[in-house]
Amino acid sequence: MKTAARGVIATVAGDGIGPEIINSAVRVLEAVNKRFGHSISTTPALAGAQAWDKFGEHLPKETITICEGADAILFGAVGGPVDDQDTPRWKDVEKNVLLGLRKKFDLFANLRPLKVWPGTESFSSLKPEFIKGMDVLIVRELVSGIYFGPRKRFERDGQQVAEDTNVYTWSEIERVVRVAFEAAAGRKKKLTVVDKANVLETSRLWRDVARAVAKDFPNVNMDFMFIDNAAMQLARSPATFDVIVTDNMFGDILSDLGGAIVGSLGLLPSASLNAKKFGLFEPSHGSAPDIAGKGIANPTAQILSLSMLLRYTYDLQKEADAIEAATLSAWQAGERTKDLSGNLSTEEFTSCVVKRIAA
Ligand code: NAD
Ligand code: IPM
Ligand code: MN
Repeated sequence: MKTAARGVIATVAGDGIGPEIINSAVRVLEAVNKRFGHSISTTPALAGAQAWDKFGEHLPKETITICEGADAILFGAVGGPVDDQDTPRWKDVEKNVLLGLRKKFDLFANLRPLKVWPGTESFSSLKPEFIKGMDVLIVRELVSGIYFGPRKRFERDGQQVAEDTNVYTWSEIERVVRVAFEAAAGRKKKLTVVDKANVLETSRLWRDVARAVAKDFPNVNMDFMFIDNAAMQLARSPATFDVIVTDNMFGDILSDLGGAIVGSLGLLPSASLNAKKFGLFEPSHGSAPDIAGKGIANPTAQILSLSMLLRYTYDLQKEADAIEAATLSAWQAGERTKDLSGNLSTEEFTSCVVKRIAA
């Protein structure tokens, strides 16, 4: 029998629906601890607007220290209403907190699974026959590219000009492509490299690196696809993909598209890992200011992010499976939040999951 796990997770709830869905994940963790005899505790840390109000910064030092001392980070979301982006309380909050944590811990490999669970085909806006069996893993590069390249705003010929630069080095690409090959080797052995190599020099470098790394993975079938075609193919025949690897920007966009295909952004968890496998685990969606405080957010992406955390950080596979099984079983019993055309609140749906883990 496995011994009881002990540990500490830093919980960074953030803004909007962040605190509501983190609360759900903590309840699920408590149920897992109880059922399996573990002692994994949580230490809350402030980030986003609440941190701004208390410390005058979005990502205070205290929060970084808590994260450094933890085994992993369970993150909610940050960001304010789209119309308030330019107020000091909200300006640059995503860059300061998310990009700050990703860079600080060098979380270069962002794993975003897009999975249609058996019996949940009706969640999708696509016809069931198109999405049946869909099980895609997007591996998104997370600490470089256009998100982190030099940017500036200046004046030229009497008008404003803005510049963002997309920069990738061979080694930045290689390490994330390797993660994708390794993932594919353990799955259906198919890897699609998504890029815009018909135009972009960075994409050409991605292809060179991918061809070089492919030599170490002769059993994995690799192909290349342009991002525009990949978006179309993902919406038309998602079940034909296995693992997708792509850069920071393309991966961001493809994963939201994946949310629509699977049925809701509220279903997509993610893991962002570094070379030492330290990770930040968060939903792929944002702070959803339009529904914040209403108690109707779907907590699934956050709960499944906890399940990924248990897998990657503590190697607790049975426990992670139990969370997934409980969630699926709740859906199969017709228990759903509003985004999935149900009428359960965040709290009520969480109770449905917790009850099944306890059983
Ligand atoms: P969003 O992902 O917050 O919301 C998009 C739409 O999906 C909204 O209609 C929202 O209500 C819905 N939605 C998202 N999560 C849901 C859930 N769990 N349950 C039910 N419905 C859900 O994207 P947005 O509206 O473009 O951005 C809002 C804010 O979040 C912005 O400030 C943005 O910068 C920020 N953001 C943060 C993160 C993050 O923290 N990781 C990610 C994306 C966006
Ligand atoms: C995500 C988010 C972030 C990103 C934003 C909020 C900076 O959209 O995690 O997908 O683009 O990476
Ligand atoms: Mn995004």
